[in-house]
Amino acid sequence: MSSYDARFRVWRGDAEGGDLTDFSVKVNDGEVVLDIIHRIQATQASDLAVRWNCKAGKCGSCSAEINGRPRLMCMTRMSVFDREDVITVTPLRAFPVVRDLVTDVGFNYAKAREIPAFVPPAGVGPGEYRMQQEDVDRSQEFRKCIECFLCQDTCHAVRDHEENKAAFAGPRFLMRVAELDMHPLDAASDSGLDRKRTAQEDHGLGYCNITKCCTEVCPEGIHITDNALIPLKERAVDRKYDPVVWLGNKIRRR
Ligand code: SF4
Ligand code: F3S
Ligand code: FES
Repeated sequence: MSSYDARFRVWRGDAEGGDLTDFSVKVNDGEVVLDIIHRIQATQASDLAVRWNCKAGKCGSCSAEINGRPRLMCMTRMSVFDREDVITVTPLRAFPVVRDLVTDVGFNYAKAREIPAFVPPAGVGPGEYRMQQEDVDRSQEFRKCIECFLCQDTCHAVRDHEENKAAFAGPRFLMRVAELDMHPLDAASDSGLDRKRTAQEDHGLGYCNITKCCTEVCPEGIHITDNALIPLKERAVDRKYDPVVWLGNKIRRR
């Protein structure tokens, strides 16, 4: 096994502020960035705060920015960098810092709670649901989400505009709305809930201008933009300009 000394710069601080700290640290063949952060913690900075859990790319806890790119630390191999590179690890920029590499991602849980849940169809019991396989496959892709919130962190509508957070749910949760809206058994509309309308009016679908940065950073390879956001936009626009819907709205407003 070969090893070398890498140069790391790790952000240290809290909500009041902080700075990058330099470390020289041993790297062995096959290691990932999270291994190196753990080695720094074990040998040089025992109070370094870092959140992780599975070390297998499945819990979504170890999200951070590595050389400015939102990534999972446990899935970023050291072999993707040159040995001479300085590797900078910083907390997710879009969320408030708790300490060092740990951020408060509560914004995302608040947005999740704003989306009304799946409404089971009347008269159909558990075990009686029937769907076409292609409908199952479509939502299965979105179900791969591990809630790492890298997409939320990278979307410029949140990342560069704190003021948008109140009105914009972000890609992960617009994808959830899209999944429910295309679910053939979701009976939300029977109780008057129009998911296409709420996507625009309550969850800020219009803030997305299809930059696709969310899709680029998703560690699960979910086609967030092409398979969730663009189809949802298309359906929302169709609904808005559907003459029958337009007439119905006019009559209802009278
Ligand atoms: Fe992470 Fe992808 Fe889920 Fe976004 S959609 S939270 S990037 S797994
Ligand atoms: Fe943001 Fe993704 Fe749209 S990065 S702008 S939600 S395509
Ligand atoms: Fe679970 Fe990285 S530690 S995804």
